[in-house]
Amino acid sequence: MKYSLSLLSTIASLALAAPCTRQSGSNPSVDGLNFVIDGKSGYFPGTNAYWLPFLTNNADVDLAMSHVAEAGLKILRVWGFNDVNTVPANGTVYFQHHADGVSTINTGEFGLERLDYVVSAAEKEGVKLIIPFVNNWDDYGGMDAYVTGYGGSDKTSWYTDAKIQSAYQAYVKAVVSRYVKSTAILAWELGNEPRCSSCDTSVINKWATTTSAFIKSVDPNHLVALGDEGMGLKGGSEYPYTNAEGNDFALNLAIPDIDFGTLHLYTTDWGVSNNSWGNDWVKNHAAVCKSAGKPCLFEEYGIKGTHCGDELEWQATSLSTTGVAADLFWQFGDTLSGGQTANDQYTIYYGSDDWKCAITDHVSSISAAA
Ligand SMILES: *[C@@H]1O[C@H](CO)[C@@H](O)[C@H](O)[C@H]1NC(C)=O
Ligand SMILES: *[C@@H]1O[C@H](CO)[C@@H](O)[C@H](O)[C@H]1NC(C)=O
Repeated sequence: MKYSLSLLSTIASLALAAPCTRQSGSNPSVDGLNFVIDGKSGYFPGTNAYWLPFLTNNADVDLAMSHVAEAGLKILRVWGFNDVNTVPANGTVYFQHHADGVSTINTGEFGLERLDYVVSAAEKEGVKLIIPFVNNWDDYGGMDAYVTGYGGSDKTSWYTDAKIQSAYQAYVKAVVSRYVKSTAILAWELGNEPRCSSCDTSVINKWATTTSAFIKSVDPNHLVALGDEGMGLKGGSEYPYTNAEGNDFALNLAIPDIDFGTLHLYTTDWGVSNNSWGNDWVKNHAAVCKSAGKPCLFEEYGIKGTHCGDELEWQATSLSTTGVAADLFWQFGDTLSGGQTANDQYTIYYGSDDWKCAITDHVSSISAAA
């Protein structure tokens, strides 16, 4: 069903030309419920390697990027943030320092020049990047690093504090402006898994509306997404379906400058014991995306330790459900000059046995379906 739909939308976009395509040139774009990459409309495989911009060895970046490309993974999500309250020793990568109510962007060789290198490596290999600007979590600083630097204590104030939002926008503008002409950007993301616990859903919605419009004003040529976990929607009574974390999936997807929806999937971490629950989680998001007329990106998913069991069902569901246009497993692993990259038990290492069943076979199914 999905494939006949994507064929129809390809024909429709040829007939109607411009109105269906949201972007121009060779930047990735969306076309109905699909992504368009290098002129091809369809479903794309990808992965996450949050750590890639924090490596200081160019050869490591090149090697990891070449493995991603060689595997046929077209989309790669990396962290575009690294916030600190204390400047680390020379040689340690950070992107922004917050202290005494002042934010300072590190554009140096151990600052945004590292992200520059990742973008240029992606350009060389034809890989398309997704780059979020802030973390909900404290890893690599996150929203808490801003709140601490501005003397606050309430994390949820991050979304509404004028000084913090002005620092965040200055950072967004600095990053976006660097790559405004790059064809290696699939999308800018407002944040990684933004949550505002016990907040009214209007808080995140208002912030997302303002920020997405701001990004488009700086860079009208790339896609923009929220980067949320996809919480807050109809389809179940379990915690991720509720508005407990301040998210309303359909409300946020309706924001005019948000081009596609994102969903993450972790069962055990979310207190869900039956992994099959994940298949409905994917389908319920796809239904919202379908009615919004924007694609869903199955952006993060994984199961600790076991990568070739229920996770494969989630992939198959994603590929066969109209409304989902790409999936990015969490997370990519490789063996580089310093040994193996971060292992959080979700990691699937390039060249391992799990790599074949979880990535090589999946990429083949996607090609076969196209
Ligand atoms: C930081 O380290 C780099 C490379 O090791 C060196 O080139 C640079 O001069 C150092 N900067 C400072 C301020 O020490
Ligand atoms: C898990 O959920 C699936 C589908 O929702 C159901 O068919 C299956 O029986 C459940 N398994 C257990 C052990 O509850």
